[in-house]
Amino acid sequence: MTDYPQVGPLSPAPREELVLSGVRPYGEGEPVDVLVRDGVIAEIGASVDAADDAQVLSFDGEILLPGLVDMHVHLREPGREDTETLETGSRAAARGGFTAVFTMANTKPVTDDPSTAEAVWLKSQAVGLCDIHPVGSITKDLDGKNLTEFGMMADSQAKVRMFSDDGKCVDDPLIMRRALEYSKGMDVLLAQHCEDPRLTVGAVAHEGAVAARLGLSGWPRVAEESIVIRDALLARDYGGRMHICHASTAGTVGLLKWARANGIPLTAEVTPHHLLLTDEVLETYDGVYRVNPPLREQSDVDALRQALIDGDIDCVATDHAPHGSEEKCCEFDHAKPGMLGLETSLPIIAEQFVLNGPCDWRWVAKVMSERPAEITRLPGHGRPVAVGEPANLTVVDPGKTWTVNGEDLASKSSNTPYEDMEMAVSVSATVLRGKVTALRGADQNVEA
Ligand code: DOR
Ligand code: ZN
Repeated sequence: MTDYPQVGPLSPAPREELVLSGVRPYGEGEPVDVLVRDGVIAEIGASVDAADDAQVLSFDGEILLPGLVDMHVHLREPGREDTETLETGSRAAARGGFTAVFTMANTKPVTDDPSTAEAVWLKSQAVGLCDIHPVGSITKDLDGKNLTEFGMMADSQAKVRMFSDDGKCVDDPLIMRRALEYSKGMDVLLAQHCEDPRLTVGAVAHEGAVAARLGLSGWPRVAEESIVIRDALLARDYGGRMHICHASTAGTVGLLKWARANGIPLTAEVTPHHLLLTDEVLETYDGVYRVNPPLREQSDVDALRQALIDGDIDCVATDHAPHGSEEKCCEFDHAKPGMLGLETSLPIIAEQFVLNGPCDWRWVAKVMSERPAEITRLPGHGRPVAVGEPANLTVVDPGKTWTVNGEDLASKSSNTPYEDMEMAVSVSATVLRGKVTALRGADQNVEA
C-alpha cells in the first residue's frame, strides 16, 4: 500500500489543550472527559489532567465519533464561486461534522493537472476548517478520451489519491481499461459515475410510473447497472481499485454482491438522498429534486439501505452539489442536477439507521468515517477514538432537533431537498487536529 504523507501547510496548527467533557465515545458507557493536547488525544477518563488554561467544552453525554469523511462533494471552486467556495464549503462540512472531504474534479477549469489540485489543497489548508482533498479527473477536461497525468497529481503537494470524471461517465471501455492499468502503479482509486450516456439522452427522472405520469423523460436503471458490471469485469481482468459513485438501484446492489463474492476489489458509496427520498417527490415538479442519478423507487431505497447495513455498500457520501437559485428554480427539465448534503447527512443517517433502525453509533463511525478513510487511503482520519490518535472528532447530540432552512445553511447555495424538514439529530461540535471548527450554539463556525 502506498503511503501518502500529507505535505504542505497543514492547518490548523495544533494549539493548547482542549477538553471535551461529558462525552460518550461511540455512544457507549458512562460520560468521560477527553483531553486533547497538540492535536492528539492525550487522555480519556472520568477526569483528566488538563492545564489551567485549557479550552473546555462541556457536554451532557453526547456521542463522540471520529471526524466524518465525505469522499464525494462538489465545492465549485475554481469557476463557480457564486454557488460555493472552498471557504463556504469548508464551513458547511465542519458544521456537518466532517473533518475531511474529497472535492470532485468537475470545476472550471477541470482539476486535471497538479497546479489546479495544489491550489485547492493549499487554499483549503489556509481556510483551516476541513481538509479538502482534490479529486483529479481521469480524462483531460473530462473529454472521456485522453488520460490525465495521475502520477504527477499523486506526487504533487495535493497528493491526489482519487481520480474521477464524476458528473460524466468514463463510457469508453478502452479508456477505463487503460486508466485501471495506469492507476495500479500508484495505488490510486478510480471513482466511476456509472451512466451509459446513450441510455440517458434527454433523461431527467427515474424511468418508471411516476416519470410516465408526469411526462418526464426516463433514466433507466440499466444505464447505471451496465457500467457497474462492465467496470467490475474490467477490474477483475486488469486490476486496480474501482469505486462506484452514488449507487442508486437494487440491481447495482446485486452486482456489488456478485463482485464481492467473486473477489473483485470494488467499493461503493450511497448518498443520503438515495437512502431517504423516492421519485414520488417529483409530483411537485420542483427542480430541487432533480439529481443524477435520479431518485428511484421504494424497492431501490430498501435495497440500498439493507446493502449499507450489510456492508455490500461501503459508505455514505453526500454528493453535495450546490447550484444557484436560477439553476434550480425553473422548469424541472432545465434544472441542474444536484442537491446540498453536507449539513444534513449525519442527521439523516443517524435518524434512519440508529434512532429508527437496527444500527449503533459504531456503525455510523464505520460508514461515515472509517470506511471512506480506508478506501481513499487517507491518513489521520477515520481513526479510533483512542489515546495517541489524531484529534479529528465529531460530537453528536441525538436529542437536539432542528428545522432545515436553506438560507441558514453555511453553504453558499440553498438547494436543499429537506427544506422545512425537522431533523432529530444535531452535530454539536467538530474538532480538526485539536481545534474546534464548528460549535453549535456559537451559531457559526469557529474562526480559523
Ligand atoms: O446530481 C449531480 N450533480 N450528479 C453528479 O454526478 C454531478 C453533480 C454536479 O456536479 O452538480
Ligand atoms: Zn458527484
